[in-house]
Amino acid sequence: MAWQRLHGRNGLPWQGTRDAYRIWLSEIMLQQTQVTTVLAYYERFVAAFPDVAALAAAPVEQVLERWSGLGYYRRAHLLHAAARMVVTDHCGAFPCDAATLATLPGIGRSTAAAIAAFSAGERGAILDGNVKRVLARHAGIDGFPGAPRVAALLWHAAEARLADRDVERYTQGMMDLGATVCVRRARCLVCPVAEDCVARLCGRTAELPSPRPRKASPSRALRVLVLERGDEILFERRPPVGIWGGLLSLPELALDDDVAAALRARYALVGNSSRELSPLLHGFTHFALTLHPRRIAVEPAAHASEIAEHAFFIWLTREAALAGALPAPIKRLLREMPAAVDDC
Ligand code: ADE
Repeated sequence: MAWQRLHGRNGLPWQGTRDAYRIWLSEIMLQQTQVTTVLAYYERFVAAFPDVAALAAAPVEQVLERWSGLGYYRRAHLLHAAARMVVTDHCGAFPCDAATLATLPGIGRSTAAAIAAFSAGERGAILDGNVKRVLARHAGIDGFPGAPRVAALLWHAAEARLADRDVERYTQGMMDLGATVCVRRARCLVCPVAEDCVARLCGRTAELPSPRPRKASPSRALRVLVLERGDEILFERRPPVGIWGGLLSLPELALDDDVAAALRARYALVGNSSRELSPLLHGFTHFALTLHPRRIAVEPAAHASEIAEHAFFIWLTREAALAGALPAPIKRLLREMPAAVDDC
């Protein structure tokens, strides 16, 4: 804790407040995103949604748009669902005890304890990814931290070390230690707890925490269509649940689908010039996805007027689309694509 006071991160925009709503926002943003990135979004997000009622009242598309750039949009969906639950089930008062917080969507045991510590000084252990690394090393815990048996040992180590008072300082100190000192290449020379660190004493900092056991991850391949009508591209709103839920994305086909037939039947379009673009690889936690983009200049088919405008389809310029909430590999594809079909 003395180390945190001197060398930790103090003065971040979500520190120095006891507002559980703001603290919750920051913790959700920081779950899979670094502080430097979150800094650029946090204030703007709070300005757009200054309290939980404003967030709950906003349409989810607006929340996704403000989230754009932070990635991992599932967090934004859960954030919105949690805001609505606070309004309906807690009369709009954001809870600040860990037990209630953990009942809200997107808030696990560690995040609940962090919010309760920062907003109410409640004493409870945290165990996020960085803290798992600190504890696996300090307590010398072998095994992949994602395995239930190992996680139980880590929680036990987290609780055994918990400070009796000033838990806010302690919690921030654990986070800061994990983010700035006990990093992948451990900086033991500047570590305040190097003296009794099992991994350091045994020369095992490079081995701990143990990596995820390797198993071949399944792979899938899809065709994505970049359908261009003048300077506009056809986007499709994805279903609200599942991968990239609720985001705008490009039309998808199975690799062996007949593209021309799908264009006519689904979109009432016919293709003119067409180019195959380089495949893109995107890694999810459970599988690897290869996208095979085909870029096609299109025009309405003769029967276009028979097909009603579909609410899920939307034509946007590349610039307008890039400003919105798109899946990361689709953003990458659009950003890297040459200006015109013929330049591919
Ligand atoms: N990561 C998660 N929570 C954090 C916080 N409160 N400060 C800095 N990094 C964090």
